[in-house]
Amino acid sequence: MCGIIGYTGRRAAVPILLEGLSRLEYRGYDSAGIVVYEGDELKLVKKAGRISVLKELLEHIDTNASLGIGHTRWATHGAPSDVNAHPHTDDSGCFAVVHNGIIENYMEIKEWLLKKGHKFVSDTDTEVLPHLIKYYYDGDLLAAVKRAKKQIEGSYAMVVLSKHEPKRLVAARQDSPLILGVGEGEYFVASDIPAILKYTRSAVIIDDGETVDITDVYFKVYNGAELAVKKQLFNITWEDSRAEKAGYDHFMLKEIHEQPNAIKDTVRGRITDNRVVLKELEGLEDFIKGLRRIHIVACGTAYHAGMVGKYAIELLARIPVEVDIASEFRYRNPIVSKGDLVIVISQSGETADTLAALRESKRLGAKVLAVTNVVGSSVSREADYVIYTWAGPEIAVASTKAFTTQLAVMYMIAVWLSQKLDTIAEEHRAEILRELKSMPEKAAKALRAADDIKKIAEAYVDKNSVFFIGRGQDNVIASEGALKLKEISYIHAEAYAAGELKHGTLALIEEGVPVVALVAQRDLAQKMYSNIKEVKARGAKVLAVALEGDEIVEKEADEVIYIPDTHSVLSSILTVIPLQLLAYYVSVLKGCDVDKPRNLAKSVTVE
Ligand code: AGP
Repeated sequence: MCGIIGYTGRRAAVPILLEGLSRLEYRGYDSAGIVVYEGDELKLVKKAGRISVLKELLEHIDTNASLGIGHTRWATHGAPSDVNAHPHTDDSGCFAVVHNGIIENYMEIKEWLLKKGHKFVSDTDTEVLPHLIKYYYDGDLLAAVKRAKKQIEGSYAMVVLSKHEPKRLVAARQDSPLILGVGEGEYFVASDIPAILKYTRSAVIIDDGETVDITDVYFKVYNGAELAVKKQLFNITWEDSRAEKAGYDHFMLKEIHEQPNAIKDTVRGRITDNRVVLKELEGLEDFIKGLRRIHIVACGTAYHAGMVGKYAIELLARIPVEVDIASEFRYRNPIVSKGDLVIVISQSGETADTLAALRESKRLGAKVLAVTNVVGSSVSREADYVIYTWAGPEIAVASTKAFTTQLAVMYMIAVWLSQKLDTIAEEHRAEILRELKSMPEKAAKALRAADDIKKIAEAYVDKNSVFFIGRGQDNVIASEGALKLKEISYIHAEAYAAGELKHGTLALIEEGVPVVALVAQRDLAQKMYSNIKEVKARGAKVLAVALEGDEIVEKEADEVIYIPDTHSVLSSILTVIPLQLLAYYVSVLKGCDVDKPRNLAKSVTVE
């Protein structure tokens, strides 16, 4: 997820671009840059680091240019660096592009252009765009962009300018957000509303497939069939503070609702023809053939993603998996050796305990695969292999979209291993991958229960303790649900394997104790119904999270939140969503600082 902005109009562009980028920094902040058109030249300034670094550089640039584009990056392809920062230009320096999204077939396009003599300088997917536009340019920038679009597969919100056409911007959107701001004799195009609020509240939403032709005197929108379409102007009513949260009250709620897109972006390009394709693991195939054991090591929510990964890998690839909390792993003299694979999971890629576990694993001779959300993070640089989640920046301390995208990656790793070891039938794999590809819309459907959950949350506000129970993967999500509630509402919560209740914890169940029962493992549902009976008989008030179509559970539980039906091995992506929402609404009702809970930090870089 990155932030893009473009301006053409009557004012100096640089201050407007910098203001816009500052308001978009929550979308990405590992590098930034702008390019403006002045005196028949493109002036390009870009740098690794935050917007403040770019601002310092621009203080020395004397320009009144009134056409320009800017970008603040959250790296996906190519580590954060000056050369990988946007804008990117073609090798003649005549075309410049800023882009938010993922060009899935960029390698194919790059090889095609290299054969035609194009020279590339960066490791990014985006750099193919200015080269492709240059290739198709025949005096009309709009026509060149339309032709380039036909060759691109993937997601993009892009803005293009050329030194051949002063005053003109061309923008296009597919699967990444793009809005057009309409001012007096000036136009803005950006990823999101905060970027333009200081200058105009009159805007147009650009839809998927559309291309926009913008000068300082007009804008024209064309649909996928290249027909001009009339767009509805709307008035932005948000006040500034909510704008960065896309109108949500908190970053956490925004990020919970971003999960369908985050999962879609993370899976994008990694499932083709009913097979998982993980280019990042090329060269690991032979090692996998002799693999005896996998260790997964992580902290907190990432540890829970590792536990779900254990269930999926052992079920689908039949390789024994041990999961460790990183702060325990590094001190227990772990039995790790040359033939082992260690998977470390870390959203930030900077968690000290996880990084130490990675280093210990390498010292012991294991191969290390990192699953992380931050390109260029310490974990990504020190691991032997890296698979990125493409969740975009996660601002709230409580991890949500990073978690569900970690699950998506763990599921893909499990299927990838099963492909290499030939452990499941093709039709079984096809069924699982069909379900995995349907997860974005199923997650969106699960989010529709938000209002019901907001109501249910009222009954939890004054509780001193909440129990979460489940079996199999549901037992892991019970732990994740308990962690969410604890860390943002400060209510004690405990997760327990439902089958274990009778071995002690049942003594704590008395009249009115809230129990959240997860019933998304179809083959264990009957056992869960009995466990619900068991706690209700002692006075518990039970909220169940169950699969759509389960009519028995509503006879057993006091309340039920349904999630879309899905394959048991993948259900955790959906089961966790109601629990994230429950924790969020309880925290809000308690007046807690949802995005920055007490005593916690987003990235724990100390022991
Ligand atoms: C999760 O909501 C917490 N913020 C915390 O447990 C977090 O998952 C843990 O600190 C690991 O962080 P990492 O993924 O950045 O390594």
